[in-house]
Amino acid sequence: MLRRKYYDLFSKFYDKFVKLHSGDNQERLRKFFIKTAELTGDCNVLDICCGTGSTTYYISEKLDGTGGIVVGADFSFGMVKKAVKKCNSNNFVITDVNALPFKDKVFQRVTCTFGFYELKGDKVDEALNEIKRVLVKDGKFLMMEHEIPDNFFIKMLFYLRMLSMGFKKAVNILKREDEIFKRHFKIVEKVVSPSKNSKIWICS
Ligand SMILES: C[S@@+](CC[C@H](N)C(=O)[O-])C[C@H]1O[C@@H](n2cnc3c(N)ncnc32)[C@H](O)[C@@H]1O
Repeated sequence: MLRRKYYDLFSKFYDKFVKLHSGDNQERLRKFFIKTAELTGDCNVLDICCGTGSTTYYISEKLDGTGGIVVGADFSFGMVKKAVKKCNSNNFVITDVNALPFKDKVFQRVTCTFGFYELKGDKVDEALNEIKRVLVKDGKFLMMEHEIPDNFFIKMLFYLRMLSMGFKKAVNILKREDEIFKRHFKIVEKVVSPSKNSKIWICS
């Protein structure tokens, strides 16, 4: 599949690109996301579209010594290879998010940072059905994405990324994001990051 191949290639310079795009803000943002996820006690977390494992890394750091574990899932072998190295862990699976290889009700949290916009058409609902299936009853799905940036250069990069997924889909997502989540979850809340550049959707 083309998108998977694209990410296999992109994996070689993805972290460098993100650093250029977000600089130090990236670490602050991911830590803010982890704090919002309220990972306490024996929390088992599934980080979908985990990419090179940047968020997975902070989750594993937070869970260290608590008895909880984090598993990363992504369909790109190249991205997962980087994640395994970054997190010094083999808790990763190469899989499409619309067919998660896990039993029902095993995770307290499912997380997704900067990956949800990748899902096209029916895949969005299929992925949300899978997320609900693997979550425990009072579990939460947390998804972080960029708000439309103010900075001209970053705004152009943001629009380029959205356009790479198809114009119609990009407009639909930007306009109807909360509707999509409300179709699947009873409670849907939005939290904006302190920098105001990113948003987190908390679905339970
Ligand atoms: C922009 S990257 C985000 C990576 C990471 N979560 C982060 O915060 O840096 C999007 C990731 O989603 C993955 N992805 C896209 N569609 C997917 C799908 N249908 N199933 C699994 N992974 C997918 C890509 O391989 C890529 O690693």
